[in-house]
Amino acid sequence: MFPGSEIYGGLAGTWDYGPLGVRLKENIKREWWRHMMREDYIYPLDAAILMNSKTWEASGHVEHFSDPMVDCKKCKKRFREDELKAKKCPECGGGLTGVRQFNMMFKTHAGPVEDSSSVVYLRPETAQGIFANFKNVVDSFHPSLPFGIAQVGKAFRNEITPRNFLFRAREFEQMELEYFCHPEKTDEYFDDIRKMRMDWFLSLGIRKDNIRFRNHAKDELAHYSSVATDIEYRFGLNESGFSELEGIANRGDFDLQNYFKASGIEFKIDGIVPHVIEPSLGLDRAFLAFLMDAYCEEEIKEQKRVVLKLHPRLAPIKVAVFPLLANKPQLVEKARSIYKALQTTSYQLQAKIAWDDRGNIGKRYFAQDEIGTPWCVTVDFQTLEDDTVTIRDRDTAKQERVIIKSLVEYFLELLA
Ligand code: GAP
Repeated sequence: MFPGSEIYGGLAGTWDYGPLGVRLKENIKREWWRHMMREDYIYPLDAAILMNSKTWEASGHVEHFSDPMVDCKKCKKRFREDELKAKKCPECGGGLTGVRQFNMMFKTHAGPVEDSSSVVYLRPETAQGIFANFKNVVDSFHPSLPFGIAQVGKAFRNEITPRNFLFRAREFEQMELEYFCHPEKTDEYFDDIRKMRMDWFLSLGIRKDNIRFRNHAKDELAHYSSVATDIEYRFGLNESGFSELEGIANRGDFDLQNYFKASGIEFKIDGIVPHVIEPSLGLDRAFLAFLMDAYCEEEIKEQKRVVLKLHPRLAPIKVAVFPLLANKPQLVEKARSIYKALQTTSYQLQAKIAWDDRGNIGKRYFAQDEIGTPWCVTVDFQTLEDDTVTIRDRDTAKQERVIIKSLVEYFLELLA
C-alpha cells in the first residue's frame, strides 16, 4: 500500500494498492462473489457511480447523511464533535465553535454548466444503485421472494477526519448485498445472514477471538434501519479494541417506499413491497483485517521471521519456484521448466506463480513468508535424478518431496 498522491505530499484519506495489494484485494473480492453467488437467486449488478441527484434526495442522504462538526477558533482545524473527549481543541487547546452538520457526500457537476440543476454526487454507498435497478432486475428475470442483488464498487465520503490507514478513507470500495424478502420473514433471514457472514470470515482464517457481533442500540441506528448488527474486528483503535468491519441492517421497506414516493414507480413483487436485509462490507476494511490477522513475528528453526499467515486462497502469490543454486545451469533450467508449466496452469489454480533465484535459499523462503506465499517449490540435485521437488509449507517450514507430474493436482487439492 502506498499513500495516495505521495509524490505531492499525499491526499488525506486516499490509498493506492501496489502490485501485491491488488492481488490480495482481488482475491478477497473473488471470495466474496463466490460466497454470494452460491445461490442462483442472487443477481450481480454493476451500477454507475454517478446517479441522478433525485436518488440521494429520495434515499435521505441529502438531508441526513452528515456528521456533527466543530471548528477550532484558534488553529481552524475541524473535528468530529462525537469523537472529542473534551470541549476544547485536541491539537492546540483552543476554543471550539458550535456544532454544525456536515454533509459527507462529494459534490460535483455533470456537464459544463455549474448550477444547481447540474449537481451530482459521488455515491456514498453502492446500495442505492441496487435499489434504483430493482425493477430492471425484476422485470428481466422475474424472481420470486426471497432474492438478492449484489454489487461491489467504489464509494466516496468526505470524512471530516480520515484516519487509521484504510479504516476510514475518503475513497473506498464496498461489497453489498440487498436481500429482498417477505416482510414477515425478515427476522429469520436477518439471523441467517448474520451467521453466514461471520462464517465467511472464519472460513478465510480470521481468528475467532479477534471477531465478534455487536448489536446497535436504538440511538445509533442509521436513518434507514430498524435493527442492525455489526461484525467487529479487533483493529485495536479504541479501549475495547473492537470496531466495525461489516454492518448488517434490516432496512425494512424504507428505500423502496421512498423511491415509489419520489418516482411514482411501484416496487412490488406478488403485490407486496419487499423488505430488505443488507450485509455491507468495506473491501478495504476487510483487506486491513485480513492483513492484521495474518501478520506474525516469530522464531522458526532458531531464526526470527515475519510471516503473513494468509489463507492460501487470499495469498497474493500461491507458489514460488526456486533452483537450489542459481549458478548451476542444470538446476536453473529444470526449475524454469517447472515454473513455466505451473504458469500455464495458473488460470486453473487461480494462482500467481513467482520465480526467485537471488541470494541463498533461506533468504528466499523468508522473503516469500513475508508476503504470505503458502508454498515454495525447490529444485535440487535429487530432482535431476528422480523428478521430485521439495515443497516447503509457509506456516510449519516443513518440507515434503512431491513428483513433478502431480504438482498441479497437489496444489489444486490444497486450494480446494
Ligand atoms: N449501505 C450501508 C452502508 O453504507 P455503512 O455502515 O455506512 O453502511 C458499510 O458502511 C461498510 O462500509 C462499513 O462497515 C465499513 O466496512 C465500510 N466503510 C464505511 N465508511 C468507510 C470509510 N470511510 N472508509 C473505509 N470503509 C468504510
